[in-house]
Amino acid sequence: AMKVYTDKVKNTVSPNLHGIFFEEISHGGEGGLYAELIQNRGFEESRIPPGSVVENGMLNANPDKKPHYNLNGRASDWRMPWPVKTAMPYWKLSLGDNAKVNATISTEKPLTTATPQSALLTVEQLSGTGKDYFVNEGFWGINAKKGESYTLSFYTKTNEAYKGPLTVVLLSSAGKEIASHTFKSVDGKDWKKYTCTLIPSETDGKSSFAFRLESTGEISFDFVSLFPKKTFKNRPNGLRADLAQYLADLKPAFVRWPGGCFVEGVNVESAPNWKNSIGPLENRPGTFSVWGYWSSDGFGYHEYLQFCEDIKADALYVFNAGVSCEFRSGTFISDGEVQTVINDVLDAIEYAVGPVTSKWGKLRAQNGHPKPFPLKYIEVGNEQHGPWYAKRYNQFHEAIKAKYPDIKIVSSMGIGDINRRTLDSIKVTDIADEHAYKSAFWSFTNYDHFDNYKRGDYEVYVGEYATNAGVGNGNMQAALNDAAYILGMENNGDLVKMSSYAPLFENVNTRHWPVNLIKYKADSSFARISYYTIQLMNEQRSDENYTVSLQQKPSTVKKARNKGGIGLATWDTQTEYRNIEVIQNGQTVYKSDFVNKADEWQSVRGSWQLKDGAMAQTAQGAQRLMILKDKSFDTYTLQLEARKTSGTN
Ligand code: AHR
Repeated sequence: AMKVYTDKVKNTVSPNLHGIFFEEISHGGEGGLYAELIQNRGFEESRIPPGSVVENGMLNANPDKKPHYNLNGRASDWRMPWPVKTAMPYWKLSLGDNAKVNATISTEKPLTTATPQSALLTVEQLSGTGKDYFVNEGFWGINAKKGESYTLSFYTKTNEAYKGPLTVVLLSSAGKEIASHTFKSVDGKDWKKYTCTLIPSETDGKSSFAFRLESTGEISFDFVSLFPKKTFKNRPNGLRADLAQYLADLKPAFVRWPGGCFVEGVNVESAPNWKNSIGPLENRPGTFSVWGYWSSDGFGYHEYLQFCEDIKADALYVFNAGVSCEFRSGTFISDGEVQTVINDVLDAIEYAVGPVTSKWGKLRAQNGHPKPFPLKYIEVGNEQHGPWYAKRYNQFHEAIKAKYPDIKIVSSMGIGDINRRTLDSIKVTDIADEHAYKSAFWSFTNYDHFDNYKRGDYEVYVGEYATNAGVGNGNMQAALNDAAYILGMENNGDLVKMSSYAPLFENVNTRHWPVNLIKYKADSSFARISYYTIQLMNEQRSDENYTVSLQQKPSTVKKARNKGGIGLATWDTQTEYRNIEVIQNGQTVYKSDFVNKADEWQSVRGSWQLKDGAMAQTAQGAQRLMILKDKSFDTYTLQLEARKTSGTN
């Protein structure tokens, strides 16, 4: 038997270790967390984002070849890899025989200047079947539930020729009208808003929404919106209840928002700005996501802060530091423009926490929330490195601290950059955000990753981590590797204070990233095993880590990491580690009793369930055993070297 002594407290584990990170990627918000059911509700999906042009069917986000921030001022020739969409994606005409209808995008007399596009339908002839529809497919289907209420609103205007009623319907996947409402008359040359409630008579997870056309003439539509009445906390313009509940159930200490690459924008002109994401929905111009589609920004700054408050999490707002995504254009603002960004950020903080007597605090109150929101952190940009970013960071840090000394400021520069401090580097930061996408087994072979980090006058936030290579679209192995990674963070509680898995969401109809935490389509959702790993690790988070000393005969235990690498190997380990006893302050607190059979140990790769819910894992080539979780004492990692008796490595 082997004895493990765990008497001395090494460090404490941060109570804020587990947060969440939301980004508009893989339709995480649009067709995801944001409960809107109409896709392309404002007909803006084909709008060319600011600062971009179309060339050969592709978006060019830097037509003037402005300098790239990472190329020492040299011209940037990066291109957006996404083709331009069709004029009216997710909408179509579904007509009976002989009907003649034309649907185009119009920019004349827009509903608002923020959203210049609308749909113009010229109805020359109806089919007479009563089945001439202008249809929206929703986000790859609309989840109609029998007996539940859905709130529809839209704007319309007509020319003089158009006379008569307009019927709005929900169509089942078989084309049957399962909910409808008729507006007796909608004619009028100015935009007018109409609303009604639709209650489906049948459940259909793949239904669609449609306007039934009942008159010839011209009719325009804009801002067509359909929401389930039941949203998370039943907030209007709210969040999809099942998805928001997944997040709430993780009990995150904080929410990082809104990105990610999303924050960077395809160029500086189209980068997100919080001021565009508050106020009346129709006035929000939306943001073109670097992931190739528009965000309506309906889940905007106010809604995000409200969500943080609703789930009792602190807010971590990331702002664009005046530089765009290096893979899309890499353009950046001039030194002279930095003050404008600083002002925008100070205004964002004032909106969240300023007194109601302040300009932006007053607007927050007018928008229904006089009390301050729980904004605690501000992050300067996303994944930017190097001297140019450092210089800007220093300016932001100084300005924010001068006005809001209690706000913690996060640099998006990794810890490596922080340690390479030079004259041009970051002078001081509260927290360094390091991103960590790892391959299968990485965390087993690099269990001491954070042990080797230089400590300094900063904390570490692993703003994005996930096992996303060699694990398909996420599997048990990924979850175990994630667990091992979390243990590494826990073990270094003096340094690593915060973390968030990424990406959080995937609409399974449109995946932009290989491995994501929570998946869904219109009518169903599930969380991957890594979700439950994080939940478990958060609920059973250690308070303290202990220094561990080991005793074993024959002595094959080494504390040093074995750098054996990955390879095929057979090991005879069955006798050594079948009995592990953990002694804490003289008391035996744990005795292992593996349920695996001896011959399973012939492979060094595998995992075993221990008694009391603990789990042991050896990684291929890592030659070590980890106890991943145990109810009877605080989590820690136990590293052992196996005795090699045969095979190669
Ligand atoms: O999480 C997906 C992307 O990974 C994020 O947008 C970016 O920050 C990182 O590169």
